[in-house]
Amino acid sequence: MITKLAENVYWVGVVDWSLRRFHGHELSTHRGSTYNSYLITDEKTVLVDTVWGPFQDQLIRNISEVVDPASIDLVVANHAEVDHSGSLPAIMRHASKATVVASSRGRESIEGYYHQPWDFQMVKTGDSIAIGKNSLVFIEAPMLHWPDSMFTYLTGKNILMPNDAFGQHYATAFRFNDQVDQNELYEEAIKYYANILTPFSPQVLRKIEEVLALNLPVDMIAPSHGVVWRQDPLQIVHKYREWASQQPGKSAVIVYDTMWEGTRLMAETVGDGLSGEGVPYKLYNCAVSDRNDMAAEVFKAGAVVLGSPTFNQGILPTLAPFVESLRGLRFKNKIGAAFGSYGWSGEGVPILEEHLRNCKIDIVAEGVRARWQPRADDLQSCHDLGSKVARALKGADPGV
Ligand code: FEO
Repeated sequence: MITKLAENVYWVGVVDWSLRRFHGHELSTHRGSTYNSYLITDEKTVLVDTVWGPFQDQLIRNISEVVDPASIDLVVANHAEVDHSGSLPAIMRHASKATVVASSRGRESIEGYYHQPWDFQMVKTGDSIAIGKNSLVFIEAPMLHWPDSMFTYLTGKNILMPNDAFGQHYATAFRFNDQVDQNELYEEAIKYYANILTPFSPQVLRKIEEVLALNLPVDMIAPSHGVVWRQDPLQIVHKYREWASQQPGKSAVIVYDTMWEGTRLMAETVGDGLSGEGVPYKLYNCAVSDRNDMAAEVFKAGAVVLGSPTFNQGILPTLAPFVESLRGLRFKNKIGAAFGSYGWSGEGVPILEEHLRNCKIDIVAEGVRARWQPRADDLQSCHDLGSKVARALKGADPGV
């Protein structure tokens, strides 16, 4: 069902309730997602972003409720990733005289994906296009989250359409932020930030300052996924500023895997050491936990403690995707430590410590290795490890 955002501005996107994996299988989306596309009917008819290709017929039907798709003059492609550009070929078949408006890198990427001789108009920060009573103003936003990303602002209606920025993978019955469960909304917004935008936090901070300095009136922020921020729209901008600063939380996350329960026992004892110092923690068996949910928890926390038994002179392979995520997400201001059981060679803990160093996570306690099943003194060392991490988190001397 299409939704009117303002006079002559419509949401014509798609709610994908069944989506559980995004970016192929890279990102979990427990609450589905939406692909938001916005139709503006001024003297010119403008479509801002399309939807993922499998939903192109629904997009065409939605547009047809307002105008003949053939009447579209401009298609703004704020970002070329296929969840937003996938229906461009269908739109351009209907509106063969339309111009695609994109950043220069957007054009490069769209041409690379679709190999079509479409008319392009390339825009850069500060450019505007008059569409009748109102104008579109463009703000390039490279690395939020791709080099081609840009924001489009609609004057007169004061609507900022920042594509992926400020989005959430969150399928809902209603389109506006004040109409949905606030806890769910923020759970999805922070998971989205942690898993998609964290590596670009410096660019996020700079872009926010740049946009705020423009002093544009903003009545709505309409991202390309999830709900439109209508009530207190700048709340999500302030949240992004806070998240981008990556101040470490006073909590910890323990991520481990185990073969015969020895490393599980060690993990739980590390947890006792943390909580004994008053530091809350979450504990995940990596083999049966969602990688993106764990990453979101690490983002919120100040410490990450990794555990694995030694397996084939390495770590259990189930931990590899998680540590690779940690490396790529480039979290800042985290501390950590490692532990694990072993039988023969015992490389697991030093390998986990190497991963922590690769992730620029400061190791604040010496790793604990327990041979075979942990004995009482091994568990005491695990407890001490948890206590040291907790004291380091609290700013006290961890006593390494
Ligand atoms: Fe929602 Fe970067 O695509």
